[in-house]
Amino acid sequence: MTPKQQIENHGELSEKRVVLLGGSSGIGFAVAQQAVARGARAIIASSNAERVKQAVAMLDGKAEGHTLDLSNERDIQNFFQKIGHFDHLVFTAGDALQLNVLAATELAQARRVFELRYWAALAAVKYGSPHIRKDGSIALTTGIASRRPQKGWTVAASVCGTIEALTRALAVELAPIRVNAVSPGVVRTNLWQNMNAEEREHLFESVGKSLPVGRVGEPDDIAQAYVFLMLEGFSTGQILVVDGGTVLV
Ligand SMILES: NC(=O)c1ccc[n+]([C@@H]2O[C@H](COP(=O)([O-])OP(=O)(O)OC[C@H]3O[C@@H](n4cnc5c(N)ncnc54)[C@H](OP(=O)(O)O)[C@@H]3O)[C@@H](O)[C@H]2O)c1
Repeated sequence: MTPKQQIENHGELSEKRVVLLGGSSGIGFAVAQQAVARGARAIIASSNAERVKQAVAMLDGKAEGHTLDLSNERDIQNFFQKIGHFDHLVFTAGDALQLNVLAATELAQARRVFELRYWAALAAVKYGSPHIRKDGSIALTTGIASRRPQKGWTVAASVCGTIEALTRALAVELAPIRVNAVSPGVVRTNLWQNMNAEEREHLFESVGKSLPVGRVGEPDDIAQAYVFLMLEGFSTGQILVVDGGTVLV
């Protein structure tokens, strides 16, 4: 696509098929909503059939849903064979955060943290990228822990750094498909549901107050970054930080 065509197309995803792995909730669901609002058809996949069904029902007939456990490589391969060609791949799947100081970190558990966030992302790109159409893109998900780790975030920060290196390597290997990643700060989603409601609100409030923008992120704030990366045609291998200024303070 020429730069002029990119400008003309800005704001348009009509006729585009967008695959959202982890699209049933939080950031992924917000990306699905925004992509659909711009004319795309969303293909949502995640492991909980009921959540997938509810997400699809909220997208006004512009989405299809698939139950897919991303910890199973064969299922990922079958999923991409089944859905056929598409335009943009968005990977936002993630499970509840396990944070621990190094001395209390069990290595077996630490290794499992990489299963969904790294190995499943790698498998999704391996089996999904051959089906991506011309001018398509891939957006992975990392987090600012790689740049601004806190005590107890050793494993989480390592996964984020790994995803960022993966993003750059894939951008080189899969060109001309563009491969980028979005790096959110703290966002109000189900990811924090292993805390009780009171602790969670306290976290959102105290983190929010400490940030230049005065609040934590909402899924819609972050979703705009993924949509931007689908629409513009010139960034690849980049990590787009959307964190309310967290890395600055
Ligand atoms: N929220 C934050 O503060 C924050 C900050 C930085 C980075 N992130 C990253 O952003 C991404 C999205 O998180 P979120 O905040 O939007 O959380 P979320 O609302 O909990 O969404 C996570 C999604 O992952 C899916 N998922 C979980 N396990 C899966 C599996 N085995 N197979 C397939 N799908 C699976 C979930 O659906 P099912 O349960 O149906 O499988 C859900 O759709 C994650 O990678 C997270 O680490 C979030």
